[in-house]
Amino acid sequence: MELNLKGKHVVVTGGANGLCYDIAKAYYEAGAELCIVDIAPNIAEAAKQLGKDREVKYYSCDLSKLDNLPADYEAIKELCGGRIDILFNGAGIQYRAKAEDFPLAKWKLVLDINLNAIFVLSQLAGRDMLEQGYGRIINMASMTSFFGSEMVPAYASSKGAIAQLTKALSNEWASRGVHVNAIAPGYMVTKLTADMEEKNPAQYKEITSRIPMKRWGTGQDLGGLAVFLASSAADYITGAVIPVDGGYLGK
Ligand SMILES: NC(=O)c1ccc[n+]([C@@H]2O[C@H](COP(=O)([O-])OP(=O)(O)OC[C@H]3O[C@@H](n4cnc5c(N)ncnc54)[C@H](O)[C@@H]3O)[C@@H](O)[C@H]2O)c1
Repeated sequence: MELNLKGKHVVVTGGANGLCYDIAKAYYEAGAELCIVDIAPNIAEAAKQLGKDREVKYYSCDLSKLDNLPADYEAIKELCGGRIDILFNGAGIQYRAKAEDFPLAKWKLVLDINLNAIFVLSQLAGRDMLEQGYGRIINMASMTSFFGSEMVPAYASSKGAIAQLTKALSNEWASRGVHVNAIAPGYMVTKLTADMEEKNPAQYKEITSRIPMKRWGTGQDLGGLAVFLASSAADYITGAVIPVDGGYLGK
């Protein structure tokens, strides 16, 4: 059993910010050779910040541009020295509107980034991983992989589909060395929610009281599972969608 990822080439999409930055950091600390992929203008700075003792590679692209993904993938692979062992599909967006008013363009964008880009990247990486006989793909799911929530019909649909895609890819690839799993974070403290306690205390209290651990999660709470799923300690785990939610779903 080995939690050390030394020598493994790990790609984290969405790794310039938020939860996936913390996940990228956990991979770096576990010894991985890391490449972050993001559209954010701070990507170079994020890679520099992550790479304390060794270089962290970065690749800037818009994952919603699906037609560009094959070329993007080849460029990312080259940055990784020609081999990707672990792909963490983390980049995602959310758009809030009532279902009856939800704009079709936003629906398409959310589905393109949160689902279609993940399928295309996983397919591209999956082909190489099948050829090398080894690979780990980890997708970012959500509580809305399990329930529908409100005001986020596109997001909930994309994350529900991610849970199914995780199982579908796993079913086809598990016997050939490629394992596919997903992490489903619960309520997380992020830039978007950091001031919720102040701005919307009633909703904050309601959510917090439903979390058995009585606190919201952080990116650091996700890093352990992300590393575990990428490591040999998880060699018999595939097709799983694992909640990291302080017990929320169990209540
Ligand atoms: N924040 C939460 O409470 C929460 C809960 C469950 C799941 N998630 C999921 O975790 C992931 C990260 O969420 P976060 O809250 O840290 O978000 P975030 O906005 O802080 O980070 C998302 C990252 O993805 C990048 N990104 C967005 N669109 C992109 C595109 N078209 N091309 C390339 N990169 C793109 C952004 O630039 C950003 O760096 C998402 O998949 C999200 O759905 C978040």
